Order: sequence, then C-alpha cells, then structure tokens
Amino acid sequence: MEHDVLVTRAREARERAVAPYSTFKVGAALETVDGTIITGCNIENSTYGLTICAERVAVFKAVSEGHRAFRRVAVVADTQAPTPPCGPCRQILWEFCGDIEVILANLTAETGRHRLKDLLPLPFDARNLGTG
Ligand code: THU
Repeated sequence: MEHDVLVTRAREARERAVAPYSTFKVGAALETVDGTIITGCNIENSTYGLTICAERVAVFKAVSEGHRAFRRVAVVADTQAPTPPCGPCRQILWEFCGDIEVILANLTAETGRHRLKDLLPLPFDARNLGTG
C-alpha cells in the first residue's frame, strides 16, 4: 500500500541522515505493536567503520526507550532498485524484532515487502545458546 505512514516517516528520517562520506542517505521507521513509530537515519563517521545504519539507530533508540515488541520496519533510500537491510542490521532486527515485516521504498514508491525470516534464513539467536 502506498501512503503508508511508516514509509512517510522513514522518508522524513532519511532527510536527517549524516552521510557526507558515502552521500547515501537512508531512513528507517520501526513500528511497535501498539503503533508507536521510532525512526532512525544512517550516521557516518570519518573513521568509516563507526558508521551506523538507519535500521540499527531505530532499533537501539526504540529498545533504549523501553519498546520491546515490534510489527514492521520501513527502510527508504533514493534508489530505483530496493535497498534491503545489510547483514548486521538483519541480525539486530531479528534479535529485537523477530520475524517482522520489512517494507522497502524509495522517495516515490514502495520497492518491496518481505518477512525478515526470508531475508535472514537460518538465523542465529538465543535459542542456539540454549537460553532463549
Ligand atoms: N546503510 C544504511 O543505513 N542502511 C542500509 O540498509 C544500507 C546501508 C548506510 C550505511 C552507510 O552510511 C551508507 O548507507 C552506505 O553504505
């Protein structure tokens, strides 16, 4: 569905990206089970390696504010082809959000909808430690 408020919020978050090195701005919006939306943008660093993706900013903001149950995440970049979450972000999303819906979009249209389990098959998580 276009006009999804989650995508709109991710587009707005993308405007706040700090990406002077790659110039590749990304926005994310994470929806909790009670409908609260927490946003994130990528924040780059001159050391490059300390850069953090939009998705992880959103997850860590949400968790730090006490949210622990999520339904969907929207990820927005200015690309024709879908921009899916990177591997580390898939792992972090799985850890804190489980099998949520991942909505991909660019500045004008949705480019895909996926379940996280399809983007991260055979995930490692607490169950593998015998503690989950
Ligand atoms: N990036 C994200 O924020 N999320 C993604 O899903 C893909 C990559 C950021 C990291 C870096 O700042 C820039 O995009 C280029 O990789």
